[in-house]
Amino acid sequence: MIDQIVAAPLVTAEAFTDHDSAFIPESERAAVARAVPTRQREFFTVRHLARRAMVQLGVPGAARVPILKGDRGAPVWPGGVIGSLTHCSGYRGAVVGYTSEVRSAGIDAEPHSELPSGVLPSVSLAEERNWLASAVREYGPGLHLDKLLFCAKETTYKAWFPITKRWLGFEDAHITFGVSDAQTGCASGDFTATILIDGAAISGTPVTQLHGKWLISEGLVLASIVVPRE
Ligand SMILES: CC(C)(COP(=O)(O)OP(=O)(O)OC[C@H]1O[C@@H](n2cnc3c(N)ncnc32)[C@H](O)[C@@H]1OP(=O)(O)O)[C@@H](O)C(=O)NCCC(=O)NCCS
Repeated sequence: MIDQIVAAPLVTAEAFTDHDSAFIPESERAAVARAVPTRQREFFTVRHLARRAMVQLGVPGAARVPILKGDRGAPVWPGGVIGSLTHCSGYRGAVVGYTSEVRSAGIDAEPHSELPSGVLPSVSLAEERNWLASAVREYGPGLHLDKLLFCAKETTYKAWFPITKRWLGFEDAHITFGVSDAQTGCASGDFTATILIDGAAISGTPVTQLHGKWLISEGLVLASIVVPRE
């Protein structure tokens, strides 16, 4: 599925169940030693996928490289590599690329179901809620576009963070969507995240807008942002 919204020069890998037998670096085992088993399994599976993708990309030593957590929980990639990880019930995904080609990347997956009641006001702007109201009239209740908005926002944060190393709140970006195909439970399109705060980067041009793609299929919502190297 992820291949439908992330293309070369990034390499993708995904799974719909956990892999028990994969190689797990000791430092990764230690990082989640106190976590519940489901958290350990998603942590190991998504890193197995990321290593597989890095091997395919041609990163030397990638098959055994640990992927630990760094600043504010962001994954720490080997030198010269950038990527993003996501996991939710029934899905694990990883994308990786070279920093010489890609400035940043973000992916997010969520189950395709309504946002829990009461969450929408705290993760959306009034303009986004207006769009949702008109989109529900246009596309019907079979598409959970509130969850798509949430997914696009988390994707925005994951792509934003490696460039700025700063927090971005749900009120700090305005997401607008393009819908290219929509049926009950299945749709795709693109989106733009307009950043509403100072987008100063740790190096290079400030972040003002990020462009992404999205997909609703197989009971999942997926979103991606790839920021090309300037
Ligand atoms: C970090 C966050 C985006 C993760 O999303 P999620 O749907 O909860 O979880 P996912 O499974 O999709 O992603 C988890 C992965 O995100 C990655 N991640 C965590 N923090 C990150 C950061 N600061 N930057 C980039 N990636 C990050 C990690 O790889 C993590 O996997 P791991 O814990 O196994 O290492 C979310 O928890 C969060 O803090 N959101 C608030 C910020 C936000 O979304 N703002 C909206 C801006 S418009």
